Amino acid sequence: FIDSVKAREIFDSRGNPTVEADVILSDGTRGRAEVPSGASTGEKEAVELRDGGSRLQGKGVLKAVNNVNTSINAALHDSDPFNQAHVDQLMIQLDGTPNKAKLGANAILGVSMATARAAANALHQPLYRYLGGTDLELPQTFHNVINGGEHADNGIDIQEFMITPVERTSFRDGFEKITNTYHTLKKVIEAAGFTTGLGDEGGFAPNLKSSEAALQMLHDAIVQAGYTPGKEIAIAFDAAASYFYNRDTKNYDFEGQTYTPDELGAYYHKLLDKFPEIISIEDPYGEEDWANFVKFTKAYGQRIQIVADDPVCTNPKLIREAIEQGMANSILIKLNQIGTVTETLEAIRLARKNGYTTMISHRSGETGDTFIADFTVATNAAELKSGAPARSERVEKYNQLLRIEEELGTDGTRLAHFPDNVKFD
Ligand code: PGA
Ligand code: ZN
Repeated sequence: FIDSVKAREIFDSRGNPTVEADVILSDGTRGRAEVPSGASTGEKEAVELRDGGSRLQGKGVLKAVNNVNTSINAALHDSDPFNQAHVDQLMIQLDGTPNKAKLGANAILGVSMATARAAANALHQPLYRYLGGTDLELPQTFHNVINGGEHADNGIDIQEFMITPVERTSFRDGFEKITNTYHTLKKVIEAAGFTTGLGDEGGFAPNLKSSEAALQMLHDAIVQAGYTPGKEIAIAFDAAASYFYNRDTKNYDFEGQTYTPDELGAYYHKLLDKFPEIISIEDPYGEEDWANFVKFTKAYGQRIQIVADDPVCTNPKLIREAIEQGMANSILIKLNQIGTVTETLEAIRLARKNGYTTMISHRSGETGDTFIADFTVATNAAELKSGAPARSERVEKYNQLLRIEEELGTDGTRLAHFPDNVKFD
């Protein structure tokens, strides 16, 4: 049984305060989890409770910590850690708001994840095994190697330029190809006379003038590393278009120009023609612009993976609406957008039942916690994005996958086949 829960304020990869929670069972077994934090957040995300005021730029989380130590601690005392759904339900009820505004999704999620860890530890099982059972596979990984948008101070408005191994004999083999490409990319950027400083997710943040230039550099890096673009290494991007959507004009203010929604579609079309190795686009339209997001899906959903992040925020209710309208064919999954392990599992189930792929995601503000690596394997979610193969808060997730692959053996390696995996049934 759960004896007590306890939280503390720690710091994330951007130096901002965040919540760490411990769950302590009656036999003394412990589970611990650290909560990540986004920068390009969706409007409908569960509430990340911050203290406000002057301390730590208003970003302190002592209120959330206190909620764990007092009311959540009292509510969970003597409950069953192996009944994750019940533990999560107790916290959802205690909060009582639709978006976890009272206790804070950061408070609730920390305890939710730490409960799963404590339960796994009590059974002496790895987390991926406890949450997932048998017949598990390693995911295809997406690595953000050029950072723009809210994650870097440069002229690029597309937020994330990712590379992904589409041909590999094991997770390790794919990851080695990614690191080779990453190091080659550094040389390509240097040779073009740009700086190689890193953005929030470990990707380079060169002050390029356009997203097209960034894609060209990725293309060149793949070739110079000795790989065939689209065959061995493919490209994906997250436009995070909510951040260049103009709410007054309903147009997109993108890299110094104004695009109507149709013009933006034509721009993406041009990119897809020029770089056929692009296999996945996330948030091509803003979170309020569902109609154009749906239209884009109709036009390109058979050709590429189209991922919905900001419009649905890992929220089963919003995901159901998106499915009804035919928005996207893939759902981005972030535990802290919804705030419990149970609701996140529900979101994944709902998406996959309807033929959508799922991509588990880190946040731009991360911690050393590798929960999402285990979680991705446990749910056979098939895809994970966790940033560049650089900066420990990113790489530790991949290192954890290397450990899991070692335990499972390479039989557990799986590759989502693009675009064949994009099928509705
Ligand atoms: P965030 O960005 O973690 O800064 O919100 C990630 C994303 O948009 O996918
Ligand atoms: Zn996104």
